[in-house]
Amino acid sequence: MVLLTTAHKGCANVMANVLARDGRVEPPLVACVVSDANYSLPALRATKECVIAIPALALAPKVVVVGNCSGRRVEKFEVFGLTPCQQSAFRAPNSRVLRESRMSVADTRLANKFNLFVLEVLKAWFDPTQKNPKTIHHHGHGRFTVDGEMVKLKSGKP
Ligand SMILES: Cc1cc2nc3c(=O)[nH]c(=O)nc-3n(C[C@H](O)[C@H](O)[C@H](O)COP(=O)(O)O)c2cc1C
Repeated sequence: MVLLTTAHKGCANVMANVLARDGRVEPPLVACVVSDANYSLPALRATKECVIAIPALALAPKVVVVGNCSGRRVEKFEVFGLTPCQQSAFRAPNSRVLRESRMSVADTRLANKFNLFVLEVLKAWFDPTQKNPKTIHHHGHGRFTVDGEMVKLKSGKP
């Protein structure tokens, strides 16, 4: 579960998104679908850039409210107390963002056809102060699972 931030024509906006991760490590790629109904879509299409932030459990309520209203009508950064920065949308104290990456759209073919954006990580940041943070995973209709026990198995894959 991530927060996807765009900035277009002087307006910063943020939406909730379930991210699909690609297995490609070099260059590092991820993918996400942004639906036609969302205000974020024209911004992402026009600028081909966004910031993706992985929220910790403490930010879950904000993820849900951000994902239940549109930047067309609501200035979400102001209303929900988020702090936009040049490269970082949420680097305010106690923002509980675990990792954040500046992304550029790497391929527009699937975006044109299916709104599926393949994004390349340009710059990544993580918060070293958060020990054993928990992330959330969306199951639909306001239901999430929270990270639990981790098992480590022998594997040669990243
Ligand atoms: C938990 C959650 C996950 C969501 N995942 C997606 C998603 O993967 N793709 C999408 O297009 N919208 C998704 N949404 C809906 C958008 O976040 C929502 O429509 C948002 O209001 C769009 O904001 P915007 O109009 O400012 O772009 C999700 C919403 C929630 C609450």
